[in-house]
Amino acid sequence: MNNPSEELSSLRWNSTRGLVEIIDQTALPHDVRWVALDSLDAYCHAINAMQVRGAPLIGVTAAFGLAQALAEDASDFALRSAYAALLATRPTAVNLRWALDQVSDAVRDLAGSERVALAHSKALALREADIKSCASIGDHGLGLLRDRGKGDVINVLTHCNAGWLATVQWGTALAPVYKAHAQGLPVHVWVSETRPRNQGMFLTAWELQRAGVPCTLVADNSCGQLISDGKVDCVIVGSDRTAANGDVCNKVGTYLKALAAQAHDVPFYVALPASTIDWKCASGADIPIEQRDTNELLHAEGLDNQGVARSVRMAGPAVVAHNPAFDVTPAQLVTALITDQGTFEASTAGLADLQQRMSKEAGAAPASQAGVA
Ligand code: MRU
Repeated sequence: MNNPSEELSSLRWNSTRGLVEIIDQTALPHDVRWVALDSLDAYCHAINAMQVRGAPLIGVTAAFGLAQALAEDASDFALRSAYAALLATRPTAVNLRWALDQVSDAVRDLAGSERVALAHSKALALREADIKSCASIGDHGLGLLRDRGKGDVINVLTHCNAGWLATVQWGTALAPVYKAHAQGLPVHVWVSETRPRNQGMFLTAWELQRAGVPCTLVADNSCGQLISDGKVDCVIVGSDRTAANGDVCNKVGTYLKALAAQAHDVPFYVALPASTIDWKCASGADIPIEQRDTNELLHAEGLDNQGVARSVRMAGPAVVAHNPAFDVTPAQLVTALITDQGTFEASTAGLADLQQRMSKEAGAAPASQAGVA
């Protein structure tokens, strides 16, 4: 999989229809259903209902959503209100705000058809940039896996879904795994189920299986023992927002894995594009944590014996629940950040190095590319 085909992309531009199409991730793993997004409302719904999810993919989808809104009404008022509607869809993944800023800053001083055309080409450019940046995360992470492997099977533990479904192609945490697999390195992934939305079971296991990467599903609560038993060579997770001091916000359950990894001296890597860093957040304490519907916790979803999708209540009738979707792993538990720009320490100094690298690159890049992930 050196060059994953369009088939392994979570979002595509259908030039015949003039519309974006996404894989509806709420139907996976039982049904691969492509859905066309044809209005601002459809885009907002797709992000909010998690038909698309994963920080980088949320960002790219929002960029196309803003372009779609401007194609319907190119006024300043429409720009402001579509930006606000899309930004309100999900609070934690900072790529959402980043991508909306990329488009709105580019078109702010334009009007009419020029504004519409530039918004669309900027969204297309963000899609391409996401593919490149994830491929580059894969290249940087591959070296780390090679170092750990020494010829034996490399056992990677991951949480949630940070594969190509969470981005446009490749993924973040899984990009090094796909690169290793493509190069013939023996790699096996422990897939943590990720209650309550089960992104590990429904999405990560599905996409790894499709790519032919050996993987094993495990209950979230079994990961501490797996690590303690020496069955994990490294943990790689993604991030929804990383603060300027290196604190990492990711799917709830990440923090416990980081604690277990540190206790047993197992490297804990976080893979992310630079667009996931929120330079305005001094620490993880400033990151807004999405509180989701408690029905996600109180119910379970799946197919019944006839293959019909069902949601069943598991908790007793009066049970009160609390459902934060993300947690924060303190920087000192993170061995390194694997980014599209290279591998950096998770610290204020490490991120300052990354920022310096990005400024140099932006200075060297043609004006049209500067500022794109
Ligand atoms: O709620 P989700 O599914 O959008 O959350 C996504 C995650 O938290 C993933 O773990 C991922 O690592 C971050 S995006 C690549």
